[in-house]
Amino acid sequence: MELDLVIRDGEVVLPEGPRRCDVGVRDGLIATIGQGLGADHEIDASGRLILPGGIDSHCHIEQESSLGGVMTADDFASATRSAAFGGNTAVIPFACQRKGDSLTEVVEGYRALAEAKAHIDFTFHLMVTDPTEALLRRELPDLIDQGYRSVKLYMAYELMRVSDLQMLQVMEVARDHDALVVVHAENWDVIQWATARLVAEGHTEPRFHPSSHPPEAELDAVQRLTCLTSLVDVPVLVLHMSTPGAVEELRRARARGARMYAETCPQYLYLTARNMEISGPEAAKFCCSPPLRDSATQEALWRGIGDRLFDVVSSDHCPYSYDERGKLVNSANPTFKQVPNGLPGLEARLPLLFSGGVSSGRISLQRFAELSATNAARLYGLYPRKGVIAEGSDADLAIWDPGQQVRLEASRMHDAAGYTPYEGIEVTGWPTTVISRGRVIVDGDSFDAEPGRGELLLAEALSLDGVAA
Ligand code: URP
Ligand code: ZN
Ligand code: ZN
Repeated sequence: MELDLVIRDGEVVLPEGPRRCDVGVRDGLIATIGQGLGADHEIDASGRLILPGGIDSHCHIEQESSLGGVMTADDFASATRSAAFGGNTAVIPFACQRKGDSLTEVVEGYRALAEAKAHIDFTFHLMVTDPTEALLRRELPDLIDQGYRSVKLYMAYELMRVSDLQMLQVMEVARDHDALVVVHAENWDVIQWATARLVAEGHTEPRFHPSSHPPEAELDAVQRLTCLTSLVDVPVLVLHMSTPGAVEELRRARARGARMYAETCPQYLYLTARNMEISGPEAAKFCCSPPLRDSATQEALWRGIGDRLFDVVSSDHCPYSYDERGKLVNSANPTFKQVPNGLPGLEARLPLLFSGGVSSGRISLQRFAELSATNAARLYGLYPRKGVIAEGSDADLAIWDPGQQVRLEASRMHDAAGYTPYEGIEVTGWPTTVISRGRVIVDGDSFDAEPGRGELLLAEALSLDGVAA
């Protein structure tokens, strides 16, 4: 068989486990997996791992802050370039509806932006904040049927949240049209109550942000969500879970038969509220919601990763530049109520998960592939085109040097945030070469993918078999 590219003699992480062999690529697809393959263009991967290209299924790109007013730092070009350097070959950001917007027009707008600028493949979650009659009857069913198979709902933020009635209505449409519902689960009233107490005590510096989002806010929202899910039998994924209590609640719901899935993010595995115990605006760099917790929580979340409680580890990349256009919002000294929530993470996600997971012996290479790519592909309807090394799948691959030690620093990141909350953390394991649909787009420090090369991915159906729930 004539091949365009052969990646030779790597440890290939297949669904059934790692195998030392070659991967042959033709016309952008994985044509064959075996021994002794040859082509004019060969990459020697001996001593390295060949993994499915990562899919970052939770990132905010060219989106206004959930608090309003401020735009995220990246555009589709810088975000997808940064994602590629971090070992990813696809991203799933949000088509973010604001109240009053037509969701169809929102999706068309985001599609045009990404088609002009994205370096790697993409699709969108449909973010519904204003479920009008017209949206529920026409727009949402049509968009899902077109292949946008996930719907995002917020239970928090004044500008974004929907009522329980509206959640149930959206869940019914998702159920009837084969879509997954993904939810930011925090009780907004609890957050408002805790915020008022902090403000009354004069505790308004950014370092108080975690105290304004107590664990109970997440626990209550997840409990409520499990109840709603028992009324409407629809698959639901809880985004960015940050507390063991809420994860335990989800485990119980699964045991009762709920189709509930769980995501967490590297910030909850590597950072704690102690990182924010600094006076003044530097703490704003770490403001995200749910907030950073404590080290006992961190260990419990790592255990959940090992115990298959979590299905996906995504970045929740949502950075704002650390200046008056972003985190400092026109003021050198913003209060925690003003600071837009979100951190950069597209490029650091996979090295952090690999290092803390695989290099530390907590998870296997197979599990890493599931958490970083395969499960997202299944949950969002992209499987088996994406997320797996198999004949016929897109040749989306990342070649990793499992022993390479890297110190994470803002200066080596390719996003537009200008800082990383992981500054100074040493990781072991790095994606050295990234291949998107058969083309080498990252090789060491060099990058070869023009903006607009990324393709829109539309999904025919969800493919939930094989994901833990
Ligand atoms: O702090 C976070 N997670 N920012 C992103 C917006 C959101 O979904 O909460
Ligand atoms: Zn969120
Ligand atoms: Zn988010």
